[in-house]
Amino acid sequence: MSSEENLRIGVYPGSFDPITRGHLDIIERSSRIFDRLVVGVLINSAKKPLFSADERVKMIQSVTRHLPNVEVRFFDGLTVDFAQSEHAHVIVRGLRAVTDFEYELQMAQMNYTMRPGIDTIFLTTDLRYAYLSSSIVREVAQYGGDISRFVPEEIVPLVKQKIRDSDGGGQTQEVR
Ligand code: PNS
Repeated sequence: MSSEENLRIGVYPGSFDPITRGHLDIIERSSRIFDRLVVGVLINSAKKPLFSADERVKMIQSVTRHLPNVEVRFFDGLTVDFAQSEHAHVIVRGLRAVTDFEYELQMAQMNYTMRPGIDTIFLTTDLRYAYLSSSIVREVAQYGGDISRFVPEEIVPLVKQKIRDSDGGGQTQEVR
């Protein structure tokens, strides 16, 4: 490809607190659709995530190192502004079930209204991960459950350690 304009660039925004196997599956599949995929980790100071934005970025970088066209950055503010700054024309989101649909549709329509040049595409989550969310992983981990089937292998000890450090996890905000 000769220039940035000719590249198919997508952004995959989210909280990723922590990244799950479901997220990783969406990243792997999206990386085959785009020339460059930028995973955007929302800082969102209004919420109190388990992992800092920096930690979340590093964890995703680590589990996507086999994907040369994937970059990971954190961002604050609107996803469409982040997409614009990355020269992306597409926002990727995963759809797990019909319960996701209303929120995702509203967000996609709002984003399209704000920036008609940027479309949202949805990838249907692999059925193996349809029930999975970061918040449910945090909850299972907080109660000492086995999370190895839910997050990439190298993320397991990091979640356990973080839960220990934060004294049983404390109260974290509802982030998916
Ligand atoms: O992983 P999540 O928490 O479901 O991701 C939600 C996210 C980060 C995609 C969404 O909250 C978002 O885009 N936040 C940034 C602010 C924004 O652009 N909001 C959408 C306007 S409708």
